[in-house]
Amino acid sequence: SQPDRNPAGKTNLFAEQKAWEEHQITKATLKFRSKNRKQRSEDYQFVFEDQIEFIKASLMDGVKVDQEPPTESIEKSMAKSAFGKLQEDRKTLPIYSYRDELLQAINDHQVLVIVGETGSGKTTQIPQYLHEAGYTKRGKIGCTQPRRVAAMSVAARVSQEMGVKLGNEVGYSIRFEDCTSGKTILKYMTDGMLLREFVGEADLASYSVIMVDEAHERTLSTDMLFGLVKDLARFRPDLKLLISSATLDAEKFSDYFDCAPIFKIPGRRFPVEIHYTKAPEADYMDAAVVTALQIHVTQPPGDGDILIFLTGQEEIETAEEMIKHRIRGLGTKIAELIICPIYANLPTELQAKIFEPTPEGARKVVLATNIAETSLTIDGIKYVIDPGFSKMKSYNPRTGMESLLVTPISKASANQRAGRSGRTGPGKCFRLYTAHNYMNDFKDNTVPEIQRTNLANVVLSLKSIGIIDLMDFDFMDPPPSEALLQALEQLFALAALNQLGELTTTGRRMAEFPLDPMLSKAIVASDKYKCSDEIISIAAMLSVVNSIFYRPKDKQVHADNARMNFHMGNVGDHIALLKVYNSWKETNFSTQWCYENYIQVRSMKRARDIRDQLEGLLERVEIELSSNVNDLEAIKKSITSGFFPHSARLQKNGSYRAVKRPQAVNIHPSSGLVQALPRWVVYHELVLTSKEYMRQVTELKPEWLVEIAPHYYQLKDVEDSSSKKMPCGIAPAEDLEFTYNRFRSVNLSLDGIA
Ligand code: CDP
Ligand code: MG
Repeated sequence: SQPDRNPAGKTNLFAEQKAWEEHQITKATLKFRSKNRKQRSEDYQFVFEDQIEFIKASLMDGVKVDQEPPTESIEKSMAKSAFGKLQEDRKTLPIYSYRDELLQAINDHQVLVIVGETGSGKTTQIPQYLHEAGYTKRGKIGCTQPRRVAAMSVAARVSQEMGVKLGNEVGYSIRFEDCTSGKTILKYMTDGMLLREFVGEADLASYSVIMVDEAHERTLSTDMLFGLVKDLARFRPDLKLLISSATLDAEKFSDYFDCAPIFKIPGRRFPVEIHYTKAPEADYMDAAVVTALQIHVTQPPGDGDILIFLTGQEEIETAEEMIKHRIRGLGTKIAELIICPIYANLPTELQAKIFEPTPEGARKVVLATNIAETSLTIDGIKYVIDPGFSKMKSYNPRTGMESLLVTPISKASANQRAGRSGRTGPGKCFRLYTAHNYMNDFKDNTVPEIQRTNLANVVLSLKSIGIIDLMDFDFMDPPPSEALLQALEQLFALAALNQLGELTTTGRRMAEFPLDPMLSKAIVASDKYKCSDEIISIAAMLSVVNSIFYRPKDKQVHADNARMNFHMGNVGDHIALLKVYNSWKETNFSTQWCYENYIQVRSMKRARDIRDQLEGLLERVEIELSSNVNDLEAIKKSITSGFFPHSARLQKNGSYRAVKRPQAVNIHPSSGLVQALPRWVVYHELVLTSKEYMRQVTELKPEWLVEIAPHYYQLKDVEDSSSKKMPCGIAPAEDLEFTYNRFRSVNLSLDGIA
């Protein structure tokens, strides 16, 4: 049942269904039918957008719209009515008729499981109801979201509904971005951020209510929060705990939380017609685009918007290109199609676009990751196109390899996706797979993340919260013990834990950084090599998820040349990133410089923000900011101190082999070292596309491994002896044995403590 790695090329999940076969998109079928489409006039567009801008601006600035906006009367009344309309809209949500009952139930029970269809108003309304009922007098209301975009956009929405400025009474907190203040009473945050708050404030004393929202998503952090808040609720009888979820798994949540009552919010659902394809299809991207365009040209635009589920930013950008290209081919006579991408790292200023009402005569096509499955509700969707895939983390605890794989979704996800089309009226869902696929290849539910991820990060957090015995932690679904052991092993190797499984001083420092333990370790180690200044710049650059380098299709040669400037001397990708950052800094953070060098300004600004925060954290863990920019060896050794488990050695055939793992890997084509092929490298991460690639690669000297991590590498691992049977060090079987032996003893020690 291993899914194909490259579904766009390999899987066979699509063929046209009879109903839409009739309308294959060809230019010939796309004759303009004027009665269906109204071209919107430029004048109208201008007025319209102006007004929307004003309303947004006034709400964002916290102009209480029932006070006097200092502008002309038409704008005044627009703003007033916009605020009034938001209030009216709140009352139309399914949850509104249960407001009092819900508040009563929360009053009567300490822990309540709330289930309600996506879009019923749980996330935006419940915290407001609690505020209106006076809970915020006793403390903040915290509401967790698995996704950062959801936390931001929901907070923005709620601040509008309350007529306050975002960041004041209503705020959000996500990694590297805190948009809250002393005034904040409704705080939306990622589940990971609340987990971190436990480190600082173990009793969450400043909160009166914690709402663990989107509980069905079962992210790693949400699962860890379950254990922590369950414990906390016993300890703090005054704390209200709400676990909210979109219909699934309610009984399971209730059972876990000592039979907490379940409050159901009946949703409104219109019928959704589901269409399957008759036979599998090779290219779901193409199929999705064709289907969308077909809907667009055959159905009147006022009819409803389209939502396509794709697996990630790259696919979304490709689909956007494909749609634009084909639309151009269709001429000017078809109605306007507004393309709205939404994915985790979409820049904030573009996020609002998907919620803007579709102008008359046009249609929106939303290209979304599974963020739109339950986290975000976009009004007006009538057509859903579901290729049946999502990107999922998968982890092999035996090899310690973690990768993001494009994987078939579960039946539960498929049904959520279909449901998105039937919120405001009857909908249609086009599944780009066969009914047989659905029945036989899709699991009932998505496997919780905790069972398919590297746990080193959360284990470190839990240890720093003071959870000593992880074997005893109250998991809703426990992770595989192998994965837990592997995490302990990794933290031990990084010297974050001692032989007894206790947090060391290094580990305590590492836990302060909201980064992967290996990266945190590199920062902590830079103290020794006197180059913390350089390492936090590199760490910040590595933490920017969007690409730093800009490579427009028509200027690829220029862009590549510009990029290679930073790689001069085969310094490796880490140092190249440092050079980019430092050069930008030298120009006083010039935007023009970024343009000239094909660097994405936005990514750089983000890196600067992250770097500022890391600098603050350095101070907290008492590491001096010291710069050693010319000592490349010091910088590389710091990196190696964190990433030594990610070392690889060149093989005769030109590929690499992980030193401690029986795994063939290659240098990613985007790396500056892809031609140089150094004999030994350390890499930041593995990505799996057509092959297993190492991304962000730096050359190292093998003796560093023994010097830096003598407990992990012995001379025989790094010796050159081509006569050996296992040229890459310890044989896999021995390796595993080694791990188990080590952990048998760690476990015993843990038991001793508990
Ligand atoms: O949490 P739940 O799925 O139950 O619903 P919600 O997120 O509270 O959404 C309630 C309504 O608010 C929906 O009609 C959304 O379209 C709207 N909303 C919005 O317009 N903008 C946002 N950023 C979030 C929600
Ligand atoms: Mg919600």
